[in-house]
Amino acid sequence: MQDLEGKTAVVTGSASGMGLAFAECLGSEGMNVVLADIEEEALRTATARVEALGANALAVVTDVSDEASMDHLGDATRKAFGPAHLVCLNAGVSAPTGPMDTLTSNDWSWTLGVNLWGVIHGIRVFLPELKARDEGHIVVTASVAGLTSYPWLGPYNASKHAATSIAETLYSELADSGSKVRVSCLCPGAVATNIGTSERNRPKELEDEKGPPPAQGDLSEFADTFGGFAKPPAEIAEIVLAAIVEDRFWIETDDYYREPIRARHHSIENRTEPPARGMILNPYIEN
Ligand SMILES: NC(=O)c1ccc[n+]([C@@H]2O[C@H](COP(=O)([O-])OP(=O)(O)OC[C@H]3O[C@@H](n4cnc5c(N)ncnc54)[C@H](O)[C@@H]3O)[C@@H](O)[C@H]2O)c1
Repeated sequence: MQDLEGKTAVVTGSASGMGLAFAECLGSEGMNVVLADIEEEALRTATARVEALGANALAVVTDVSDEASMDHLGDATRKAFGPAHLVCLNAGVSAPTGPMDTLTSNDWSWTLGVNLWGVIHGIRVFLPELKARDEGHIVVTASVAGLTSYPWLGPYNASKHAATSIAETLYSELADSGSKVRVSCLCPGAVATNIGTSERNRPKELEDEKGPPPAQGDLSEFADTFGGFAKPPAEIAEIVLAAIVEDRFWIETDDYYREPIRARHHSIENRTEPPARGMILNPYIEN
């Protein structure tokens, strides 16, 4: 999609991290920006930052996991600016990491509610108007965890593989029908955001009594290592902007995990064992 100026972007999860960087970047391009997030105060501050860039900005407190809340986001956007042109389905959380048998139903429900249902609701609410105009772009924020399967990150991996699959399915449907609506699948590696404190947004009804941390198998032991790789969100926003303008589907932001992706595909093609822990974490440990 070229000529962004004067068009309307919706960004979920835009009170922090990558979503905020997208909102600022798109506002700087002259787009009207609708910022949607569950965190009310941070959303207000983020919206003021986008307005300070000279953009028209609207804050809509939204829980992406909730159908009615996402319907409201669609209505509020249309009321303020008309139908959307660009929709970044970006809100996401990461539940505590640990082996599968240490995870609770609430960990799964919360992660899938935000990371998977947020994308499903976003497509349901906004795709019809993009198709009706036969113009527009949807960016689904997946992850490298949507292309490989990290140990101890079960719900997050599952949600991001689902997000990748939804983006690919949508691409296929749009391409097959000759639509001019485009879709991109964003698969970043480590980015310096607030994802490490996702628990701040877990709803009370999905909280558990805190048990002891798993005896072994907790990705937080790699937090410093991941941190050393983390890119600034603004750098990711520039990469995403270029992909939107160039109509690119895959948006990969790092080269260091190409080998684990290749190893996974190799195992599928050759019907061999999937790559396990060492292979997936090696890029972080060795580089
Ligand atoms: N940070 C990384 O290393 C990394 C890597 C790959 C992919 N991602 C993905 O990037 C996306 C953005 O995350 P981030 O890293 O910027 O983290 P972040 O915590 O800084 O931002 C996430 C935003 O989502 C919002 N949010 C959480 N639950 C919500 C809900 N139910 N409804 C609406 N908003 C909600 C949060 O309030 C926050 O503003 C996520 O989908 C995440 O999974 C992050």
